[in-house]
Amino acid sequence: MKKTFYITTPIYYVNDVPHIGHAYTTVAADVLARYKRLQGYEVFFLTGTDEHGQKVQQAASERGVPPQQHADELVVRFQDLWKRLDISNDDFIRTTEHRHKLVVQAVLQYLWDKKLIYEGMYQGWYCLPDERFWTEEELKEGKCPECSRSVDRISEKNYFFKMSQYQDKLRWHIKNNQAFILPETRRNEVLGFLDRQLGDLCISRPKARLSWGISLPFDPDYVTYVWVDALVNYISVIGYPADLDRFNEIWPADYHLVGKDILTTHAVYWSALLMALELKLPKTLFAHGWWMVESEKMSKSRRNVVDPNAIIDEFGADAFRYFLLREVPFGQDGNFTRDALIRRYNSDLANDLGNLVSRTLTMIEQFTEGIIPQPSFEGSHDQEREIMDIVRGLYEPVEDAFNRLEFHHVLSTIWKLVDRANRYIEEMAPWDLAKKQRERKKLETVLYTAAEALRFIAIYLSPFMPNATERIIHALGLDQLPTNALSLRVRESGLGGAPLPGRRIQKGPALFPRFEKPRKTGTLSPSQITIDEFTKLDLRVGQILAAEKVAGSEKLLKLNVDIGGEQRQIVAGMAKRYSPEDLIHKKVIVLANLKPVRLMGVESQGMILAAGDKEVTALATFLEDVEPGTPIK
Ligand code: MSP
Repeated sequence: MKKTFYITTPIYYVNDVPHIGHAYTTVAADVLARYKRLQGYEVFFLTGTDEHGQKVQQAASERGVPPQQHADELVVRFQDLWKRLDISNDDFIRTTEHRHKLVVQAVLQYLWDKKLIYEGMYQGWYCLPDERFWTEEELKEGKCPECSRSVDRISEKNYFFKMSQYQDKLRWHIKNNQAFILPETRRNEVLGFLDRQLGDLCISRPKARLSWGISLPFDPDYVTYVWVDALVNYISVIGYPADLDRFNEIWPADYHLVGKDILTTHAVYWSALLMALELKLPKTLFAHGWWMVESEKMSKSRRNVVDPNAIIDEFGADAFRYFLLREVPFGQDGNFTRDALIRRYNSDLANDLGNLVSRTLTMIEQFTEGIIPQPSFEGSHDQEREIMDIVRGLYEPVEDAFNRLEFHHVLSTIWKLVDRANRYIEEMAPWDLAKKQRERKKLETVLYTAAEALRFIAIYLSPFMPNATERIIHALGLDQLPTNALSLRVRESGLGGAPLPGRRIQKGPALFPRFEKPRKTGTLSPSQITIDEFTKLDLRVGQILAAEKVAGSEKLLKLNVDIGGEQRQIVAGMAKRYSPEDLIHKKVIVLANLKPVRLMGVESQGMILAAGDKEVTALATFLEDVEPGTPIK
């Protein structure tokens, strides 16, 4: 029996409306789910809401409504947002649903019967906002070690899960399963955590203090600790314990995607619970980083919480999805700024992808009456072969990057084809071919090849931008993306689906219309200079021969540039915008007579021109192929 590929997001607290952080995990999980479906996997993708516990009870009481009503109202905000973001989850769990509560109670009863839960006195410090108990030693200067807020001393009867007895087994599991906790640095953090003595887990709350939760089956005066309740969602939905056939088809999860702040609860609490239930552990827990907003922590009090709906209104769901996964390597923290979003949108989507789509379709419309032509590969067709080699070579690096959840890398790999296809069109200049009857076949081959490249770009990008890519597919006169376009069977056939020649294209409105920012006035007028002053500048064409990061710097790249019979070492502040391999062979504008300086200990003998104010936004380069050393006047 083939195992279902199982992906989960955390279930989100309904104490407030969804923000960019929630959207982030959900979009990442969705992209992965869509990719796996394209490969032909049976996928089960689960998300939902965490509706019990102190936080939700408190939020409800602040609004003056009963907690269930509060949850019923807020859950819609999540569900609506997921619809707008094209999230393709297979189920949506609310922890207040009967099907979930039953399983939580069954799990607790089982652990109670196995004497893995015992009654004890709880004495400790409680952080109300975080709903976490801390021991005396864990406190930081008497405050909650997580949020630095004050904690309350609590002493009461409670129930405990014998978590401590799984400490060694868990440590062993983490050490022997490289992929269990990713990224690597997070894995080390958890191992560090497990070097200290692990305590038992308090899994109950007296109803006298907190009534909003699932009653313990063996003591009706208590409700279940919200984390135990919530974690069980991963198994309650898929049939545990009532439908073990279904459960065994889906469990263990292939990926639990979580934010770095909730890794411990997953890696330690959840693993220990699963061990106690004698169930397998998930294959991978991946902890992603946090988004800051304009370099600040996002918080209600700072009034900088980013509402995903507003971004979708302005830029569309596809662009938002693309940005979230392209801008920051999954696993690292990121900084959300409107400028960065606009930059990505304009350069990658409006320019690179949008132009490729619109010029390809426009030319087919103009030169071959809107019908994708039949190619004829007579004589030399090296460029076409190169394009198709890139197409065929895409699968492996994409698959590798996906396996490591390096979404940004998947995208930059696909972009190599986007860039090459754009360059191909420029090189072949179909607009010139169209002027000569004897070049007709060449013209048809070029238009076909551009359309074929576009089809594959759409297939590979479809997990990220389901909407835009479907529009590309329709524009190419195809009905829909083959549902398993990246399965082995389809790939072996060498085609991305039905043949393209003969299809009537359907050019719609621009996919990503350029986003025009209102111009800032007064920033672009440095004082005037004379032509003599200008001619003092030795500006020349340079070609980048080698590039590498400057050790210890986030911003600097060390470049080796040919400026015509002479090589220069130039340190350029473009590492945030470009990776070294982006720059190799690029022709750039070099200011060659700038006095050498040392940057981070590395000598820089010149400067490379690029657009942007404090940050580089675009590298200045040439449309034509020019010789290094050519003067620029
Ligand atoms: N209900 C628990 C999860 C239970 S899972 C069994 C919870 N909910 S939450 O709504 O507070 O957070 C859900 C997720 O949102 C976490 O993975 C968290 O990391 C993520 N984020 C919250 N703020 C974030 C950012 N600013 N940036 C990125 N992700 C962030 O915890």
